[in-house]
Amino acid sequence: MTSPLRRPLIAGNWKMHLTLAQSVDLARAVKDGCAGAPGEVAVCVPFTAVSVVAQVLKGSPVKLGAQDLFWEAQGAFTGEVSAGMLVDAGAQAVVIGHSERRRLFGDTDEAVNRKLRAALAAELMPIVCVGETLQEREEQRTFKVLQTQLEGGLKGFAPADLSRVVIAYEPVWAIGTGKTATPDQAQEAHLFIRKTCARLYGEGFAAGLRILYGGSVKAENVDALMAQPDLDGALVGGDSLKAQSFLRIMHFNAPAGAK
Ligand code: 13P
Repeated sequence: MTSPLRRPLIAGNWKMHLTLAQSVDLARAVKDGCAGAPGEVAVCVPFTAVSVVAQVLKGSPVKLGAQDLFWEAQGAFTGEVSAGMLVDAGAQAVVIGHSERRRLFGDTDEAVNRKLRAALAAELMPIVCVGETLQEREEQRTFKVLQTQLEGGLKGFAPADLSRVVIAYEPVWAIGTGKTATPDQAQEAHLFIRKTCARLYGEGFAAGLRILYGGSVKAENVDALMAQPDLDGALVGGDSLKAQSFLRIMHFNAPAGAK
């Protein structure tokens, strides 16, 4: 029996897309379409869209997230945005350590750890991303990479501090490539992540931890992925930009009794 703490979460990551007008339209479609979804729904939007989308989502159960933050509260950090600023703009969640941040902008596990601390202090729901590259997978280093990212990113907390944390397993080779991990590959990685978190923070913590899968999640593959026992949701990139696809994904059908 899956822990009731592991309410499924389908989160869209809009990345660097959409004008404000398009953001408002898409947020409205998600809000209007979320009734009856089997789990929670969130959209993680560009910084510039946070406050306008917050207005659209007001009073709806759809959670609003940003895609990054900086760990300092304020100061001379040109171009950065703090956790407090995100909360002030209406965000309730934030993506941390996305592979695009790690690969293109140099975010290290230590940076992830500092960002996580700032997000938790501001009472945001952090979605911490981990995942291996194709080369790392081919060299049989997937588990080692996940372990290093989890140990470094989640270092120095008490289990109770981390109760709001969500982990997203995003194999880099599956992001934006149309190449989805098979349900078995995803399940294997998710189980490893849960076991690693059990070792770091205890069985109780791990049993209630939500682990999302991300990487070419689509209407056509979400049901099979969500049927896996250790998949608690999805972080959706490209297909979260199309209302029709995202609505179908958030209304996934995991076969009854699968978990
Ligand atoms: P795609 O769904 O476009 O592969 O992106 C996944 C992702 O990076 C979500 O954070």
